[in-house]
Parts: sequence; C-alpha cells; structure tokens
Amino acid sequence: MTHPTGPRLALPEGFLMGASTSAHQVEGNNVGSDWWAVENRPGSFVAERSGDAADSFHRWPEDMDLLSELGFNAYRFSIEWARIEPERGHVSRAAVAHYRAMVRGALDRGLTPVVTLHHFTSPKWFSALGGWASPEAPALFAGYAEVAAEILAAGVRHVATINEPNMIALMHTMIRRLGSGREAEGAEGGEEAGAVAFDAGTVEPDADVTRSLIRAHRAAYDVLKAADPGLQVGWTVANQVYQPEPGAAEAARAHAHPREDVFLEAAREDDWIGVQAYTLHRIGPDGPLPVEPGVETTLTGWEFYPEALGLAIRHTVAVVGPHVPVLVTENGIATDDDERRIAYTTGALASLAAALRDGIDVRGYLHWSALDNYEWGSYRPTFGLIAVDPRTFARTPKPSARWLGALARAAHIPDGQPPVGVPADVRSAG
Ligand code: BGC
Repeated sequence: MTHPTGPRLALPEGFLMGASTSAHQVEGNNVGSDWWAVENRPGSFVAERSGDAADSFHRWPEDMDLLSELGFNAYRFSIEWARIEPERGHVSRAAVAHYRAMVRGALDRGLTPVVTLHHFTSPKWFSALGGWASPEAPALFAGYAEVAAEILAAGVRHVATINEPNMIALMHTMIRRLGSGREAEGAEGGEEAGAVAFDAGTVEPDADVTRSLIRAHRAAYDVLKAADPGLQVGWTVANQVYQPEPGAAEAARAHAHPREDVFLEAAREDDWIGVQAYTLHRIGPDGPLPVEPGVETTLTGWEFYPEALGLAIRHTVAVVGPHVPVLVTENGIATDDDERRIAYTTGALASLAAALRDGIDVRGYLHWSALDNYEWGSYRPTFGLIAVDPRTFARTPKPSARWLGALARAAHIPDGQPPVGVPADVRSAG
C-alpha cells in the first residue's frame, strides 16, 4: 500500500490525536437503554440489534492498549446513563466504579480521556417519562451529571454533555412519525434513541426538544463546573456543512438555523465546542438536493467529501465565535476499502491543517471510529480504524490505524494537499 506523502504541518503542543466511540455502539448488552428496547421490540423498524456489540464493556483495556500502542494520545468514549442510573434515583455504584476505572485506564496508557455523558441513548425510565420532551428532562439530566462528576473526578478534563443534540431533536420528530402507531404499546423505549437515518433531509427538529436539550446542557454545565471548575465542558454538534447552490444562500441559512446553528449559538459560553463532520449537504432554493449521480458515495450513502471537515470547523467558529476552542470529536468514513479511509482522512486533515494555519484554535482530532461498531441499526457501515470479529471479538488494526497512529506519534498532519479527488469510477456500494 502506498500512503499519501507530501507536506506536513507540525501540530501545536498538547494537540489531542485519537479516536472516538460511544457506549451503546461498542459495549454490548446495554439492556437498560431505550434504544435496546426499540431494537428488541417485535416488528421493530430497527433492522439489526446491537447485541454484544464489540464487547468493549469487558474489552476496554484491550481497546485502550491498542490505541496507545498505535501512537494516539486521546480516546473519546461515552458513559451510559442507563447503567449508571438504571432506575430513577438509583445509582449503580458498580457502574460508577467501572467508568472510573476506564478513566484511570486511559490516563495510565497516556490517553487523554474525552468523555461524553449522553450519546443518543437514555435509560428506559427517562424515555417513559417523555424523554427530552418531558419538562423534567433538564433537571433529570443535571442530576445525572452530578453523579457523572464523580466519574470525571478520576482525572477527566474534557467532558461533552450531550452528543449531537441537533440529531436528537430531528430524531424525535422522525421517531414520533414512525411510531405513531406505537402509542398503544406504552411510552417506553426509544423516543430519543439513536439515529434512524442521519440524512434527515427535510424533517423539522422538534422545537420543544431543542429548548429542553439546550436547558439540559446549560444545567449540566453549571453542575459540572460547580463540582470542578477545572473541567472543560462542551457539547458536540453534527455539522451538516450546508452548501448553498447559486441563489440559495437564504434558503440554506433558514434550513441550517434550527438544524445546527441554534445548537452552536448555545455553545458561546462553553469551554470548547465539538465539531463532527462527515460530508456536505447541498441546498437549492427549494431545499436539500440529492447526491448527484456519478459522485463517489460511502457505505452510508454520503458523498465522499473530505473537505467537509475544514468547512465545518470554519462554520462553527463563525457562529460560536473565535473565543471557544474547537475539538474535532468525530470525522471519518464508512467504507470497506481502507485505502479510501486513508484518502478521505488525508483530505480531511489537510483541511484541518489549513484552518490551523489560518489561526483557528483547534485543539484535537478524534477520528470516528476507533472500532468497527454498531451503526444504529446495522453493523454493515464500517467506520473503524480497528476491525472487530463479531464472534471472537478479536481486534485487528487496519492499515489506516497504523497510518493515523504514526501521524499522531510524530505530531504532524498532512498539509497543503490538493483537494482529494473524487474519481467517478471509484464508488463504494451505497
Ligand atoms: C454519531 C455516531 C455515528 C456516526 C456515524 C454521528 O452522527 O455521533 O454515533 O455512528 O455519526 O453515523
């Protein structure tokens, strides 16, 4: 294999280079969560269950060993509310101990832990109350954050309250539509769980849920800072990289505001903002446009567009303001062609390098994902740097993992690359 070579940019001191996962997608048997309930409901719209996932609940030391050996200095993972508070007001001391051990385990291996408190899944009891639509949601989440502070006290500095609140608000609308026939089954399970489809198109995010998420974030921010003023608290937004076609600038702005920008505006008083970018979305005067025929797409059907990362960083800073540092908390590609993963990541990192050279305060890059994992209804879209055997759970780093790990060890990233081409004849099955 030939790896792209070319000019490199030296990373700023302390820059975090690593990879990300989320609990439900890798731990396995997250039986107390609303998403688990949805997956396992007869006739569920979810095609495939998470089951054992990558068994990282037990194998996290091996995951961290690998990341550290590969050369990374950071690992983003999430802690699972449904394990920590399996029933309302009942805290599992064993779960708290488990996640404290993970924090210590990361630090012992030279990995800076970046910890997410909520990554799409909620406890079943929270969903049964109405999930994020419940007036109690912000206070319940703040209560959970108070417990989580005990885990973070094991040595975490970077904490994300809620992953992709903009996707949660969209999913709320989508799942309500899908599940209007489910009312009779009871509220339990999945109003807020996971993504049905990330390409939400024209679906409107739920305005009440949006307000509730922002309130929950601010309440958790205060709780976490009171527990430890040194904690760096933020949240992570799914950057859609809306690109207006000629004559559609206003349409794109109107489309973007409820779907992304309102959540970025809510981060103006935070300690950092998480950028999560995969592709772009073209907006015409009448709304979102489909991917053009002949353009390379990935296993999730998204346009292969590495430069989305640089655009997402710049848009985020334009909305949030330059005073809030950026952490790239997700960026990657679903492909079974690891050469394309390297090509994609080369282009993405070059766009990040250009942002750094322009003086934008980016503090880290965490690739999605460390492992091939449960992609919210299917194991087929493989985002991992490390392959996982679904029967033995054996981990095998892919060439991309070694390539990116070597960059991390050298503290350099590709720079000044010409835009990565999108040859029409190189198409992954969508
Ligand atoms: C989510 C991840 C997901 C990834 C790829 C992000 O929206 O945070 O959970 O696996 O994108 O779809």
